[in-house]
Amino acid sequence: MHPPTTRGIITQVTLCAATTGVNYACSCNTALQQALDRGIPDLHQGMCQFPRGGQTLLSMSDFSMKDKDLESGLARVETQDLTYSEYLGLDAILGAQHPRADPPHHDEMLFIVQHQIAELWFKLSLHELRAALDMIRNDHLEPCIKIIARIKMVQQQLFSQWAVLETLTPVEYVQMRDVLGTASGFQSLQYRQFEFALGNKNRSMLDIHGVGTAGGRALAEWLNRPSIYDEFLRHLARNGHDVPEDRVNRDWGEAYTSHPGVVKVFKRIYENPQRYWDAYDVSEKLVDLEENFQLWRFRHMKTVERIIGYKSGTGGSSGVPFLRRALEIQFFPELLEVRTEIQA
Ligand code: HEM
Repeated sequence: MHPPTTRGIITQVTLCAATTGVNYACSCNTALQQALDRGIPDLHQGMCQFPRGGQTLLSMSDFSMKDKDLESGLARVETQDLTYSEYLGLDAILGAQHPRADPPHHDEMLFIVQHQIAELWFKLSLHELRAALDMIRNDHLEPCIKIIARIKMVQQQLFSQWAVLETLTPVEYVQMRDVLGTASGFQSLQYRQFEFALGNKNRSMLDIHGVGTAGGRALAEWLNRPSIYDEFLRHLARNGHDVPEDRVNRDWGEAYTSHPGVVKVFKRIYENPQRYWDAYDVSEKLVDLEENFQLWRFRHMKTVERIIGYKSGTGGSSGVPFLRRALEIQFFPELLEVRTEIQA
């Protein structure tokens, strides 16, 4: 997080990549300070570019290595009414890593942090999805498009994150496999809620989490409400599209199945994007969400394959074969089927 710059004078600074190996683009002084801290020797006019239109009130000589004095407006943390750490609950978050290996295993921290970060992104995704569902329910597609775009970016973070875990070798994993016991991502409540929100409903997951437990109840809530796709189809029906009745009023807890009538609806939308722009745009955003979800699944499966091979999982599944089967799951079947129907 960048603190707001007290001087507000730099709109963007790009340090010449050829010289520094790094591009810094930042709306505050922090990135620049980081560059200085990393020992970039000399920042003079010739090495830097300011974008056209950027308000540049500092001369480059202000960025010399010796200029590290703090600004007078910056106060000691303990004197602040609300601190960074308090606002973000950092004591709780940074105190929530409890490695179990004895003697300690260096890589266990990576394993824990990686999962925790994914759970935080799941949390944000669910928060955003809740808002998106409300918007579609109220026929406000435009703000919903923005929300879905944000979820898409979160999914990209989740996807990229696998690269960090891929640095864990098979040997490192087996050395700490025992401490994981029967814990598995398969038990992730938020992941399952995310899937339900997107439409991959599976009632048997309630048993896994325990009917009547807090987790089971939280899951049942997402199971028994319309998914984002259900809400979208209902929106289309309200707005003059001929969506089959049994696709707009159904048992939301059951898995959605494709219907030729819905393919027809999407064919009309896809062949007339200008006329149905918002509906078309949401459709494409949903395809993005599904694709990103599948990419995450795929990379999870490949990461698992390279770390544990074909051993069974800590959650009790066959491991890679189990994860591979999930790659067949579709959330929004007609949005893919319609592409086969589209003619020139
Ligand atoms: C070394 C790292 C990992 C290994 C070896 C691994 C292995 C597995 C295996 C074998 C399964 C199948 C269920 C089971 O039998 O346990 C599974 C499921 C799952 N894992 Fe991982 N995993 C790893 C990292 C992660 C991470 C970082 C996340 C992030 C939250 C995650 C989330 C999940 C989820 C959500 C499922 C359920 C998938 C589904 O039911 O479709 N896993 N994992």
